[in-house]
Amino acid sequence: MADKILVFYGSYRSDRMGIRLADYVVAGLKARGAEVELIDAKAVDLPMLDRMYKEYPKGEAPPALEALAEKIRTADAFVFVTGEYNWGPQPGLKNLTDHFLEEWFWRPAAIASYSAGRFSGVRSGSIWHAILSEMGMVVVSSTLAVGPISQTLDADGQPTGPAGDALQRAFPRFADDLAWWTEAARAQRERKAPPY
Ligand SMILES: Cc1cc2nc3c(=O)[nH]c(=O)nc-3n(C[C@H](O)[C@H](O)[C@H](O)COP(=O)(O)O)c2cc1C
Repeated sequence: MADKILVFYGSYRSDRMGIRLADYVVAGLKARGAEVELIDAKAVDLPMLDRMYKEYPKGEAPPALEALAEKIRTADAFVFVTGEYNWGPQPGLKNLTDHFLEEWFWRPAAIASYSAGRFSGVRSGSIWHAILSEMGMVVVSSTLAVGPISQTLDADGQPTGPAGDALQRAFPRFADDLAWWTEAARAQRERKAPPY
């Protein structure tokens, strides 16, 4: 059975760069046989959080929220492409994820951080790790850290130059780590229903 993986990306900027990394991750996971969907927060365009999904009476959540809840509930794993604004996670990604809680539980997640500079968004990635843990995901220890993003991936999401080569070398371990935990979590969910 192919792993169903959702890849989340949350920049709303007109000139956003992280879409390159999101496209790269989607393509890389697809090439390994996974069923992958990009969830682009800007395209989903949820409003600033008012009611969480679970706060709507059953069947009354707005269609975009209902559709996304179903995708999250039925996914096997998640990847979060995480940029860095002032050392922290991007508001578009945070706003989207905060709409849900229980829908995230009992699946693994991996973080691919990036930034315009050499620090590759790792400060934001560290904060994001804690946030995902709070939301009931098991965050794998392998990360991708991409920076400067403009010197690593071209506009088509293709690796470029020495930084692109380094990303290509890092990707298999990142994907293997997530795949191992994805298989483990699925086997455990089948063996024993989650306790809550
Ligand atoms: C509001 C804002 C704050 C930023 N803060 C940081 C930062 O703290 N660290 C960093 O490395 N880059 C920072 N940058 C540069 C971003 O890494 C760079 O703009 C990146 O392309 C943002 O992702 P996006 O293009 O997908 O929106 C910041 C950019 C913006 C717009």
